[in-house]
Amino acid sequence: MSRHFLRDDDLSPAEQATVLDLAARMKADRFGHRPLSGPRSVAVLFDKQSLRTRISFDVGIAELGGHPLVVDTQVTHFGRGESLADAGRVLSRYVAAIVLRTHGDDRIAEVAAGASVPVINALTDGFHPCQLLADLLTVRERCGGTAGRTLTYVGDGANNMAQSYLLAGATAGMHVRVAGPAGFAPDPSVVSRAAEIAAGTGGSVRILTDPGQAVRDADVVATDAWTSMGQEDDGLDRITPFLPYQVNKELLGQAAPDAIVLHCLPAHRGEEITDEVLDGPQSAVFDQAENRLHTQKALLTFLVGAGAATIGESR
Ligand code: CP
Ligand code: NVA
Repeated sequence: MSRHFLRDDDLSPAEQATVLDLAARMKADRFGHRPLSGPRSVAVLFDKQSLRTRISFDVGIAELGGHPLVVDTQVTHFGRGESLADAGRVLSRYVAAIVLRTHGDDRIAEVAAGASVPVINALTDGFHPCQLLADLLTVRERCGGTAGRTLTYVGDGANNMAQSYLLAGATAGMHVRVAGPAGFAPDPSVVSRAAEIAAGTGGSVRILTDPGQAVRDADVVATDAWTSMGQEDDGLDRITPFLPYQVNKELLGQAAPDAIVLHCLPAHRGEEITDEVLDGPQSAVFDQAENRLHTQKALLTFLVGAGAATIGESR
């Protein structure tokens, strides 16, 4: 049975810490780890647009000594009538892992059901777990650790980033608060799963609507686009109800004085975040983007390179 990484809670707290530890080591010795040499190939498939994920996986797989195959699925049979489980089964005959950015979580689950190699979620409608590994490494670097820190996400509480913050933050022992307008709350099953994880890690989970209350004394303030990929024509007003949740100087002023700001990018400057904050001294956004590279290299090493056994000797 292959280990997949479809949701943030596919890594236990100890496994998440192991991957983040390895990512820090890989960041400190960027070209010194080649567990995919051979080279072993990794398919990186996109049903949706990407800049960071696409380039960071391509570069990261090459730096691990592997061979990246980055493919836009529109030019393949993937999802064009061919069973997704069959596609996963076929790709498993060629590659050591499948990385997929797609729409519904049911699609990646179907690929994983057919695959005999690890399948990694590179963003779905429900979750963005690779992004969260990068975010948590950034929190470790900037805040000295994750356990016990308060992370507040403001914006679309129903989107992939909000749901991943709940699961991954709880796994890391953080106090996670999510605040968005009425009608934009996370799936209750994700909230209860995050609360269950938090009960074991010393973290906590709160869903709020008041942005000021949510941000008060937070160590980390995070946000994301108000309109995610695929929601452009959903008929909802994705501006007016979100305006009080903009991460600007006033809102950030209610957080801890040394709070850091995260945004997975791409940012819609002047909507969910102001230039002043994104380019300001509390922004950790570009370190966060860089950390996609290091954390994904660590994740691939963990999942593909003979599991955790490789981690101590991944040169
Ligand atoms: N943050 C992130 O996933 O960016 P891309 O959509 O550019 O990959
Ligand atoms: N929530 C955003 C994240 C982009 C990286 C989206 O799904 O479009």
